[in-house]
Amino acid sequence: MKILLTVSSRHGTTDEVADVIAEQLRAAGIDVVRARPEDVTDIEGYDAFILGSAVYMTQWTDEAVDFTRRFRDALRDRPVWAFSVGLSVLPKGGLSDLNRIGPVLLPIEPEDHLTFPGRFEPDRLSLRERSIARVGGATEGDFRDLDAVREWGASIAATLCNGL
Ligand SMILES: Cc1cc2nc3c(=O)[nH]c(=O)nc-3n(C[C@H](O)[C@H](O)[C@H](O)COP(=O)(O)O)c2cc1C
Repeated sequence: MKILLTVSSRHGTTDEVADVIAEQLRAAGIDVVRARPEDVTDIEGYDAFILGSAVYMTQWTDEAVDFTRRFRDALRDRPVWAFSVGLSVLPKGGLSDLNRIGPVLLPIEPEDHLTFPGRFEPDRLSLRERSIARVGGATEGDFRDLDAVREWGASIAATLCNGL
């Protein structure tokens, strides 16, 4: 069983979430190939896909969106899971909703899409990013819940290992 895990991250949080997912899959004996979406030119030979992106300005990154467009037809016929990392899921996270991600994923019909909370640590960001996030109402802090990520990764592994 071989799966492609694409991850689009600007500041590493989504990468770290993907590490945990990959760990769960590998522990179940699944061969995980990991790539930046913009580096993928061919998706033949994979049994399933997990697509992950950080959320900026209510959207997946351009690279992640472009990947879903380039491979939309092929992905529609295969098992796909998707995850986002953002702050809008926080109870007090003022940053706006994830409604714009839905249309990106709709044509692919993923098995599941989940949003995991990320982090907003201004020191790691450019002045411009910091200002945009603050104006958007971002709450400062690291809100990752790696147990929830682990659980999600394990549930995908179980589904794949038991046959879809
Ligand atoms: C400029 C900026 C805009 C953001 N816009 C959103 C947003 O619209 N919705 C959201 O849920 N999170 C938003 N976030 C929060 C990021 O998704 C969060 O910081 C995430 O952890 C970034 O992941 P990364 O480190 O993998 O790039 C924004 C953050 C910044 C700095």
